[in-house]
Amino acid sequence: MQLPRPRGPLSAAVIDVLNGGDSAALPNDPPTPDDVLGDDDLQLALWTLYELHYRGFDQVADSWEWEPRLITVRRALEAMLLAALRAEVTVQQDDRRVADRLRRLIDADDGPPLSRYLQTRADRNQWLQFVVHRSVYQLKEADPHTWAIPRLPTRAKSALVEIQVDEYGGGDPTQMHSELFRVLLRELGLQDDHGGYVDVVPGITLAISNTMSMFGLRRELRGAVVGHLAAYEMTSSEPCRRYAKGLRRLGISDEACAFYDVHVTADALHEQLAAHDLCEGLAEAEPELTEDIFFGAAACLAVDNRFARHVLDSWDAGRSSLRTPDAVLEVAS
Ligand SMILES: [Fe+2]
Ligand SMILES: [Fe+2]
Repeated sequence: MQLPRPRGPLSAAVIDVLNGGDSAALPNDPPTPDDVLGDDDLQLALWTLYELHYRGFDQVADSWEWEPRLITVRRALEAMLLAALRAEVTVQQDDRRVADRLRRLIDADDGPPLSRYLQTRADRNQWLQFVVHRSVYQLKEADPHTWAIPRLPTRAKSALVEIQVDEYGGGDPTQMHSELFRVLLRELGLQDDHGGYVDVVPGITLAISNTMSMFGLRRELRGAVVGHLAAYEMTSSEPCRRYAKGLRRLGISDEACAFYDVHVTADALHEQLAAHDLCEGLAEAEPELTEDIFFGAAACLAVDNRFARHVLDSWDAGRSSLRTPDAVLEVAS
């Protein structure tokens, strides 16, 4: 993967260092932007730093993953993201069992109707935009939550492994969910390289990925990462059914719809595993993490709702939801 194009002083400093520039140029104490979740510069800088922990960049030595100066910047940006998420969500305390509380949290969530729009109204160009946004996470689907495996007690660990085995195709690389997403990208005429569309997506799209990476990479947030996964799985099955219908409405093949088709059934099972065995298993073994499970779940919903609002507002206003006009997609239209 190539390094992205900078979007402001912070991402420019990080990218410049990764290109061989002087690490003394990295800010010690970067200012907090007004809108952390939507800030293009901050979210791109953080996304770039996190990618060093996944597949890295072609021109950057693997050893930069643990470069102290970069970790210092990462921690400063994570503190801003974490504070913004904690300010964004409020979780009511109550005594019900964890799975029931998660269900109530999900049921009370009244997010923007993006999946209905994509099912019934979105044109091909809007669908291309949506898939481009989703490619940022879906091409590494499951990876951020995998970081949690060695950090969990037995019952929760077993449940997470069971979910992740499905996500990674159960031993068949062609069934890995990220690979199924590639099939969809290719049929739509889009490129399928990991990170291929990072330059065209806004900060809020990167914030979805960054939230998961932060929860996954910090052991102290292991409650939040399992809560995040539970919310993700519990809100996946029905929207995926709508996405598959929307794609078929546009004449997309069964093979390319498979990514969404498999999630209709897989995530109906995953949500049970995630709410009961994963989240309850962790809360039982480490009760002090219980509230962070709900924080992670609520953060997942909040960031995704904010993303959906951005996309629908853009379309309502007759604009592209991507940063650059749709020129990048013309080839695919
Ligand atoms: Fe999946
Ligand atoms: Fe799943």
